[in-house]
Amino acid sequence: MGKVCIEEDIYVSVGSDQTSLHNPWSGGYYPVGFSFEESNKMMVEDPERFKKVVQQALVRHVEAINKHASRGTYFFDYGNAFLLEASRAGADIMAEDGVNFRYPSYVQDILGPMCFDYGFGPFRWVCTSGDPEDLRKTDYLALEVMTQLKESASHNIVQQLEDNIKWIREADQNRLVVGSQARILYADALGRIRIAEAFNKAIRDGRLKGPVVLGRDHHDVSGTDSPYRETSNIYDGSRFTADMAIHNVIGDSFRGATWVSIHNGGGVGWGEVINGGFGLVLDGSQEADNRLKQMLFFDVNNGIARRAWARNKEALEAIEKELQRTPQLKVTTPNLVDQSLLDKIFS
Ligand SMILES: NC(=O)c1ccc[n+]([C@@H]2O[C@H](COP(=O)([O-])OP(=O)(O)OC[C@H]3O[C@@H](n4cnc5c(N)ncnc54)[C@H](O)[C@@H]3O)[C@@H](O)[C@H]2O)c1
Repeated sequence: MGKVCIEEDIYVSVGSDQTSLHNPWSGGYYPVGFSFEESNKMMVEDPERFKKVVQQALVRHVEAINKHASRGTYFFDYGNAFLLEASRAGADIMAEDGVNFRYPSYVQDILGPMCFDYGFGPFRWVCTSGDPEDLRKTDYLALEVMTQLKESASHNIVQQLEDNIKWIREADQNRLVVGSQARILYADALGRIRIAEAFNKAIRDGRLKGPVVLGRDHHDVSGTDSPYRETSNIYDGSRFTADMAIHNVIGDSFRGATWVSIHNGGGVGWGEVINGGFGLVLDGSQEADNRLKQMLFFDVNNGIARRAWARNKEALEAIEKELQRTPQLKVTTPNLVDQSLLDKIFS
């Protein structure tokens, strides 16, 4: 999407940038006007100049996007630090308030309200037997659980369940597995717990040949503080803090994770994000049953609680539902006030 489309008067309905701008100075973004070889040489021999020409290219890039947007193109950030790096380059990319960007990230408009705020995120598992037959059986168990959950699901999450039922039903025939016998499936707190319970039972009674390790991506409901990506739809100001990743790894470790990790850089680049992750080994034991319930419950709901405190409508619905389902759970919810009253007080 660029200058040529403008000159040829081509209307672009949707636009995004998917270069590796989490790594702008070492080959994640190649500057316009230089060959691949020239760029690689300059990157090594004259990194200051390389930085300058990348930034000039970003400014030009944004000028083209702004022209398209003024004609109605919907432009969104793909979670690759495009808006952030463009702003640092001095491109005309900020909103009038000088804090936000003029374009949304895909988490603000899509993934956040549709998935993360309801607790849906990329749950993962690995069959340690390394046997494709075990993976097939886990797919089937997950499919059974998701299909059952759909029967009593509230209308606002039926679509998510249907999409993921389709995915897991067809996952094996898509033949995407390379190496480890592993799978990713979007599920919410209840779905993750029920699927994990079904796996643990199948390990216990010998239907699965070996233990299963659970985990998740950093691109999820909880565990990641990333103001330009995973937590970009937190609007109460707290997206510029890094508390949730720390809470998650500490909470997960006490509640039964086999290992936890705190790291940095996922998706948008070093120094821009804090990620907390875990691994939980299911070995068929009763202890694993206890651990999976406690840990997965906390891991997801901690993220929903944070999103609910930020007054996200979907997260408030999700936490209310969890509070009804789990009487021992205590999560405070915000007192909602009319924003215009607040604006008046603070203006
Ligand atoms: N939103 C998500 O869920 C999600 C998922 C994965 C990756 N990402 C992010 O997306 C980015 C891209 O990831 P990837 O794995 O596709 O990276 P990649 O390095 O495989 O692809 C980037 C592409 O951009 C091209 N490119 C570089 N400069 C260009 C320019 N000026 N004009 C046009 N093309 C140019 C490169 O040739 C390359 O093909 C990363 O920053 C990554 O963190 C987001």
